[in-house]
Amino acid sequence: MIQTTAAVLREPKGPFTIEAITLDEPGPGEVVVRIAGVGLCHTDLLPRVAEGLPLPLVCGHEGSGAVVAVGDGVTELEVGDHVVISFDSCGSCRSCESGRPAYCATFFPRNLSGRRVDGGTNAKDAAGEDVSARWFGQSTFAAVTVVTARNAVKVDKGLPLHLLGPLGCGFQTGAGAVLESLRVEPGSSIIVFGAGAVGLAAILAAKAARAETIVAVDLNPGRLELAAKYGATHTFDGGAVDLGDLLRQATQGADYAVDTTGVPTVIRIAIDALHPGGVCGLIGALRGDLIIDPTLLAVGRTLKGIVEGDAVPQQLIPRLIELWQAGEFPFDELIRTFPLAEINDAEEAMRRGDVVKPVLIP
Ligand SMILES: NC(=O)c1ccc[n+]([C@@H]2O[C@H](COP(=O)([O-])OP(=O)(O)OC[C@H]3O[C@@H](n4cnc5c(N)ncnc54)[C@H](O)[C@@H]3O)[C@@H](O)[C@H]2O)c1
Ligand SMILES: [Zn+2]
Ligand SMILES: [Zn+2]
Repeated sequence: MIQTTAAVLREPKGPFTIEAITLDEPGPGEVVVRIAGVGLCHTDLLPRVAEGLPLPLVCGHEGSGAVVAVGDGVTELEVGDHVVISFDSCGSCRSCESGRPAYCATFFPRNLSGRRVDGGTNAKDAAGEDVSARWFGQSTFAAVTVVTARNAVKVDKGLPLHLLGPLGCGFQTGAGAVLESLRVEPGSSIIVFGAGAVGLAAILAAKAARAETIVAVDLNPGRLELAAKYGATHTFDGGAVDLGDLLRQATQGADYAVDTTGVPTVIRIAIDALHPGGVCGLIGALRGDLIIDPTLLAVGRTLKGIVEGDAVPQQLIPRLIELWQAGEFPFDELIRTFPLAEINDAEEAMRRGDVVKPVLIP
């Protein structure tokens, strides 16, 4: 048995509580990681609104840390390795075999059920009751956790390990949408709706990809300032009544758009702002049904759903670290650290938009 402390969610609307829990020893294909830092992503708050998730639950899916034990059959990692932990996938379904693990046939049960694919879990609370601790195959709101080895991307020991976790989801998602999914071309134009953790990563990646026109749209003036600082050539208030006209003037019809807001009215504006043949990537968790006039798509436009930036984490995370080292992906500047015990304050700060990416330090 492994003894640790974790931030546990017991009620959908309740606080996270710091508790002692016990974890089973790692099984085949699993490793134990001592967490150095873990990002807070909006998806960690899904159990507050989604029905049917098995509480109590330990969330956290942007962890980084050092391997302290390995289970049977793990050959790629050893004790002492530093890792960034990303999403889980099976490795053997049609999507995984074709290099698209974000579309793994068992993506949802592996990442968003809190349990193993068979419904089991590996953790108990102080009263001996089951705790769901397989969120994204990691449940990293904890001092120590058991992780699927396939999720863990080995990184250089000279890097600031405690800051790297968000490369496993939020930053990977925004950057991957631009670099992997849309494959933004030099000289092209892109509009990014929502300049939060995901949108700002998309803007940084668009600049690194040498897009010529990079437009940011947000309701929060502070976020628009950040967007301009990190590469947006134009910034617009999402509430502007003539937003569509402003976007067309800035881009003459954009080659690409990405939505990180999930707001259906915003997505309709995004599609309408595309040049014929343009592509709109959908990243934000949809807030309601998306109803669109079919003529919006008739001119060869594409609407594309994107999970985790279409990333193969073992490839994209090292690439983002290289871009960071080259000064082209300063994701660390978007982070504010909080002790794990202050996770409820971190959640509030993120909701208010005061901090782009909270990282919790156990
Ligand atoms: N598809 C995936 O794989 C994946 C991965 C990570 C996150 N997500 C989702 O992406 C979304 C964005 O995540 P984030 O961490 O960047 O969130 P965030 O809160 O940091 O950023 C969202 C931004 O959108 C802005 N915004 C909200 N409504 C708007 C509107 N009507 N018009 C313009 N701007 C508006 C907010 O002010 C904020 O700056 C979330 O829904 C999250 O769940 C999806
Ligand atoms: Zn996430
Ligand atoms: Zn798979």
